[in-house]
This record gives sequence, structure tokens and C-alpha cells, in this order.
Amino acid sequence: MNFENLIYEVDDQLAIITINRPKKLNALNKETIQELHDAFAEADADANIGVIILTGSGEKAFVAGADISEFSDFEEEEGAMLARKGQKLLFDFIENLSTPVIAAINGFALGGGLELAMACHIRIASDNARMGLPETSLGLIPGYGGTQRLPQLVGKGRAFEMIMTASMINADQALQYGLVNHVTTQEELMALAEKIASKILDNSSVAIATAIQAVNAGFKNGVNGYEAEIEGFGASFGTEDFKEGTSAFLEKRKAEFPGK
Ligand code: COA
Repeated sequence: MNFENLIYEVDDQLAIITINRPKKLNALNKETIQELHDAFAEADADANIGVIILTGSGEKAFVAGADISEFSDFEEEEGAMLARKGQKLLFDFIENLSTPVIAAINGFALGGGLELAMACHIRIASDNARMGLPETSLGLIPGYGGTQRLPQLVGKGRAFEMIMTASMINADQALQYGLVNHVTTQEELMALAEKIASKILDNSSVAIATAIQAVNAGFKNGVNGYEAEIEGFGASFGTEDFKEGTSAFLEKRKAEFPGK
């Protein structure tokens, strides 16, 4: 696929999506949001792809936020529409994808950039990364899921402090908060993402997709996560991957899962 603002690469079972507007610190304009949706949809539909890595181009930024120049003259209705459309098209879309997504945060992840990373299933960061939700400094609140996902990941008190102060935290603090799972050097970041991806690729993609649904169910209003788990657990017994995984264990060999 050809994109204006993204680089889409496939390396065996891995898709690497790089947001590529370095001069604008990879800020998310409308076109980039649509392209990201298309790239994630493409990777998810590709039976060969087992993990997606998302990163930003350049050494400075993962994503420095939603493109402020695009909404500076918006009124209330347009603001609500921007958030509603963006959440559906990209942020909720990524969170509910069947294919696991690792965000490799290589620099600034601010506003919509941190919200994008938080929509991914796993986050790792380089030691130069800085993260924050600066929206209240612009007279706004986070609109791409930040008020919901940040408290889920770091707890309500820390989320309130980050939102109210609009300050950035560094990679070590993000690690301590549990906002990212690992911190490494910028040079090692993609290698670490690929190492995690390769461990994921050893396991059943069908089971992983079901686990994503079950975990997410617990964070949805009106949905009983435990019930979703019971259903997903039961459904797993009807899959080829279950037969292969259990047979391989009993035969003392490595399971060979067919992929999604
Ligand atoms: N939207 C639009 N453009 C952005 C942007 C954003 N969120 N973030 C950075 N840019 C642009 C800048 O306008 C600048 O463009 P220009 O060269 O045409 O003037 C370019 O990216 C480089 O940014 P600059 O501010 O010069 O870099 P810096 O190193 O001095 O500062 C930041 C880096 C991240 C601290 C600063 O860019 C910033 O605060 N960005 C906005 C962060 C934000 O509030 N995001 C939430 C949006 S809801």
C-alpha cells in the first residue's frame, strides 16, 4: 500500500507502521488518521501478519499530538465530531484489533500521540521519550480516549496530575507508573519491539485475539468481563490451535500454530 504520511513495511509475520511527518513531529492530521486506519486494517486482514509495531520517524517524536493547526478555529459541534470520528476510526479500532499492536515510543508522545500509544496493547519507550497530555494548556481536554485510558493504566490520581498540570513525564517515570512496559536506548528500541513480537509469534494468534477481546470486555460499560472470559475460554476448545497446542505439549514438542 502507498501512503503519504506513513511507511508500511512487512518483515515476515511482522508489520511495521511508521508515522512519517518528522517536520511536524508526526502530528496527527486528518489524512494521517485515515491512513493509519487503512494501514492497521490492512495488517489485521493479512493472515500472514501476527504482530504490528507502531513507531514514529525521526529521532525526536513518536507523535507530538493531534495537528493543532487543523482544529484551531473549530466550534463545539466540530470539536465533538473530531473526537467521535477519531476515536472510532483509529483509537478504539486499534484497541479492538485481533492482531496485537506494540507502540515503540521513540520520542515525544503528547496529547493524541500518547492517546495513540495508549490504544495499543503494549508500550515500550526509548530513554529520550517524553509523555504527557498537554490539552488543558490549550484550553481543551484529551479527546481521543486519554481521560479514560490514562487512569486505567496509571491510576486516577496520577492521571489527574498529568492532565491538570499538562506536564510531561520522562521514560523512567512512565516505566515507574506502568505507562510503558520497558525502557531502552533509541538504538535498541526497534530490536526490543521485535524481540517481544517474536515471543508473541510463538503463541496461538487465535487465542491471543480472544484474550484481547476478553481483557477489553472488562473495560466496557455494561459488559461483564468474566462472562466474556468464560465464553472465550470455551470457544478456544473448538479451535485447531487448541488441538495443536495441547498435542504439542503432551508430545513434548514445540507447537506449530497455523496463524490467524
Ligand atoms: N500540531 C501541529 N504542529 C505541531 C504539533 C502539533 N501537535 N507539534 C509540533 N508541531 C510542529 C510545530 O508547529 C513546528 O512546525 P514549524 O516548523 O512549521 O513551525 C514543528 O512541528 C516542530 O515543532 P517545534 O515546536 O518547533 O519543536 P520544539 O522542539 O521546539 O518543541 C514540542 C517540541 C513537542 C514541545 C512542541 O512542538 C509542542 O509543544 N507541540 C505541541 C504538543 C501538544 O500540545 N500536543 C497536544 C495537541 S492536542
